[in-house]
Formats: sequence, structure tokens, C-alpha cells
Amino acid sequence: MKPDDFQFLATLVKDRSGLVLTQDKAYLLESRLMPVARKRGMKGLEELVSTLRARMDNVLADEITEAMTTNEAFFFRDIKPFDIFRETVLPNLLKARAQKKSFRIWCAAASSGQEPYSIAMVLKEFASQLASWRVEIIGTDISKEMLEKAKAGLYSQFEVQRGLPVQNLVKYFKKRDDLWQIDSGLRAMVQYKEFNLLEDMKALGTFDVVFCRNVLIYFDQQTKGEVLGRMAQQMTDDAVLYLGGAETVLGISDAFKPVQGLRGIYARTTGTGSLGDGATTDAARPAAPAAPSGFQQPKHMREGRPLAGTTGATPPPRPAGAPAAPRPALQPRPAGSPPPRPAGSPPPRPGVAPRPAGSPPPRPGAPRPAASPGRPLPPKPDIKKP
Ligand SMILES: C[S@@+](CC[C@H](N)C(=O)[O-])C[C@H]1O[C@@H](n2cnc3c(N)ncnc32)[C@H](O)[C@@H]1O
Repeated sequence: MKPDDFQFLATLVKDRSGLVLTQDKAYLLESRLMPVARKRGMKGLEELVSTLRARMDNVLADEITEAMTTNEAFFFRDIKPFDIFRETVLPNLLKARAQKKSFRIWCAAASSGQEPYSIAMVLKEFASQLASWRVEIIGTDISKEMLEKAKAGLYSQFEVQRGLPVQNLVKYFKKRDDLWQIDSGLRAMVQYKEFNLLEDMKALGTFDVVFCRNVLIYFDQQTKGEVLGRMAQQMTDDAVLYLGGAETVLGISDAFKPVQGLRGIYARTTGTGSLGDGATTDAARPAAPAAPSGFQQPKHMREGRPLAGTTGATPPPRPAGAPAAPRPALQPRPAGSPPPRPAGSPPPRPGVAPRPAGSPPPRPGAPRPAASPGRPLPPKPDIKKP
């Protein structure tokens, strides 16, 4: 691919989603965008780029952006964050919201639904205490395709073998031909909405718990800081934020501080307290019931624990006959490292800091500042509001 064409596409994707593509990901761009080009009867990426250069087609640009997202997701990813949710955050919420009897949870990069459904499964364990409560789980993502899959709640054998304790499979899923469908009760607990994290968040309302896991890692420092700053405005004073295992707020945003002793969990800096307060307990998991006939999960999953020596983030090998593995993930940078610079682009502006906590979020509809000096402002993304 010509460097100019790569730069054009990488800029388009970054401006619309925040995802940073470096030149070494040119192969990924080609492999993911060739099907988009072919679907439109184009010969290749050169034609795709020249079409867009001649006239910006927002539908096509959205398709390109969506094709470049990494949608890797699995149930109870990393396990520990969900243990903390069950053992600390949820009990604290029950106490703190005893009068109001309601709370709201936001899954800000819900992908195909495994994360919000994992949360819903934990909430089910508290069904009797929450009987008269109003609890909302909002799952948002930029990818329409992933949201459709999440709403359908249909997963392959491979997907239900990634992190889902077998007792939950037995309890909440039904076999539908080659797939497993999560039950309608759990599906009804999650509302899905298309939402771009670069957009104004006010219309989403205020949340008590936010899961924003494994998405900021694909953004540059400035974008991460902006997203976190706006997210903080949508959270109650005592709310907690969950980030992915390789993500942090440190050195990126002063809107949040780590919750002592709870890795991956953050509280608002200006908050009065934290739903993450208090030590976690190592409560024993319930014993797993027998698996449905013909279904064999790896031992560590039958026991509801990660593989020895892993955090639970590493999926088991794909069983024979299972669908193809998910698309290769973009290699995220280690947290805290400087953002990669697209080849040929000017160096980053010195001293560009994330928006300070408490400062107003960008106005909806206001033009996004150019990410680097000298580059003309991109056309305004045509991103649907929730
Ligand atoms: C790797 S998945 C994370 C799934 C889940 N949170 C987890 O940790 O397992 C990242 C998701 O972020 C979404 N995403 C990427 N950029 C986004 C943006 N600007 N706004 C909203 N979602 C975005 C992608 O579509 C993808 O589904």
C-alpha cells in the first residue's frame, strides 16, 4: 500500500474512533479493508482511497472504521474484576443506595456482550436483595455488528469456553443448533446502544459503575485523557471505574485515582467516597454442576478459575471444529508509553496534556482539534447519537 494511502486511512480511522494505526499495521489494514473494498466492487485499497478522496462517503468511512476495531471479548475476562464487583462493589452499592434502590452500570466498550452479560450474571446472584430495585446495565460500542451480536446473545462453543464457568453455561444458556444462546431474562437486563467514546456523553446520564476495559489501550494519550475526563463527569461522586489489565489513569488523567488494593479499579479524584472501599474477601465459588452431555470444558474453567500462571486473560486453545479465531488484535502499547506516531507525521506537540478534571467537555458538534499540527481538520464524523 502506498504510504500516502495508509496515512489517509489511518487518519480517517483515528479521527472517527480514536484508534491509532501505526505503519507496521499496514498488513492489518489491508487484510481488514480488502473485504470492504470488494463488497463495493472495487479492485483494492487504492480505489477505496481515491473514492473517498474524491467524495467523503460517511457510510463507507464508518464501515472502514468498524472493520478496524478489535472486538476481542470473553466472559468474566480476567476473573478478578468480577470477583471484586461481587465481593466489594456490589455490597457497597446495596448499602450506599439502600434509600434510592437504584443504580446504573455502563459497559463503555461492550463489544459482543460478554462483559455486560458477565455483570448481569453476578447481579443474578443478588436477585433476592435486588428484588425491588431498579438496576440498569447499558452496553455501548461503536460497532453496529458487535451490538447486533450482543443483542442476539448467540455464542459459539469456542466463545462459551472462554471464561464462562460451566455452572453459568448450564444455568443461563440454551443450545441453538451449533450455537449457545443466553437466556432472555439476562438479555433483558442489558440495554445496548451505539455510542462513540469520542462523542459527548451527557445524554447517557450518570453512572455508579463504569466498565471501560480494553479500549483506551488503542487510543493515544491525549484521547485517553479526554475520554476519561468526560467519563468522570458522567459518574456519581462515589462511583468506580474499571479499566483493563494493561490500562491505567496514571500520567493520563487526574480525574481518577487508583482504589487502594483493588487493581484496575479507579475512583473519582474529587469524589466523596468510593464504592470500591473495603477489602475484598476470597469467597469460595459455588461448586460447578455437571456439564451438559457432550460438553467438555478445560479443567480450569470447570472450576471457574484461570489457567495456572495466567490472569485468566489468555484464552484456551481453540477446540477442533470451532469457528475461526477472532481477528488478530492490534498490538496495544504498554500503558504509559508514548503514543505511536504515524510514519511521516510531524512529532507530537510538546506539552499537550489531557483535559484537566472538572473542565468542561468539548461541545457536541464542535470541531475536533487536529491531532497534530499542520494537518487539515477532517470532515466531521457522521456518528449517530444514542
Ligand atoms: C477489545 S474490545 C473490549 C471488550 C470488553 N470491554 C472486554 O474487555 O472484553 C474493544 C471494543 O471497543 C470498541 N471501540 C473501539 N473504539 C471505540 C470508540 N471510539 N467508541 C466506542 N467503542 C469503541 C470496539 O468496537 C470493540 O468492540
